[in-house]
Amino acid sequence: MRSKVTVLDVQRAKADGRKLVMVTAYDYPFGLLADQAGVDIVLVGDSLGMVVMGMEDTVKVTMGHMIHHIQAVVRGCKNPLVVGDMPFMSYNTSVPEAIANAGRLVKEGGCDVVKLEGGIHFAPTVEAIVKAGIPVQGHIGLTPQTASALGGFKTQGKNAEAAKGIIEDARALEGAGAFSIILEAVPAPLGALVAEAVRVPVIGIGAGAEVDGQVLVTHDMVGLFDKFVPKFVKQYAQVRTTILGALQEFKQEVEGKQFPGPEHSFDMPAEALEELKRLILR
Ligand code: KIV
Repeated sequence: MRSKVTVLDVQRAKADGRKLVMVTAYDYPFGLLADQAGVDIVLVGDSLGMVVMGMEDTVKVTMGHMIHHIQAVVRGCKNPLVVGDMPFMSYNTSVPEAIANAGRLVKEGGCDVVKLEGGIHFAPTVEAIVKAGIPVQGHIGLTPQTASALGGFKTQGKNAEAAKGIIEDARALEGAGAFSIILEAVPAPLGALVAEAVRVPVIGIGAGAEVDGQVLVTHDMVGLFDKFVPKFVKQYAQVRTTILGALQEFKQEVEGKQFPGPEHSFDMPAEALEELKRLILR
């Protein structure tokens, strides 16, 4: 029987050389599916702003949105470690506010740990949240909440100076007590160097194969969100096509009076029907 994944299990995986598997989920059915698939970690990412709420980016996602979606995912996820993403400006203004908001995600949402974007400059914030008793996952490289400041959704750390900065970010987060780090959109050789530079697991999304685990946005991976598909996404299914086909067939059958047939309708005893007709024709 599987048991609940803990922060210690995640850290042990790196020491054991076992790759960690992490996916996103935003609601109960996907939480349940991720649980049944046996993944280690489920992230309720603020990517929900884009793939579920149709926003242009993640900047406008609120604490209210996050808590609502985390609650739904947690109901479906028995075993994976559930990470709640801290939305933009919920941790950026002051350390006390960051601690309070991390606390809300855990207490009101029900997630196990939180994640926030940012490297060396956010190390004091990470340290304070960890000291308050909430494990924190870092997120460096491409940080979507501040993508405009990085020149858009672009690969990070392409020159030696920028790459060194990302390694320093990882070391600072480890020093601050982050239990793991997400590394997004960096050249594969840099991914390998970052994973080597720290003892905590580095989970990559577009960071090559030589990191300690992989995470993908589920809606990208199953072909449910195809507004744009980043180079680092492999589509394992085309769920959008299947759902669209079902909706179109339903429309056709309703319009063509083929649905519902007798097998999808409820019967009524003949005597009751006769009695009803007598009553309404009186
Ligand atoms: O919000 C999210 O889904 C994320 C992943 C891209 C790691 O942060």
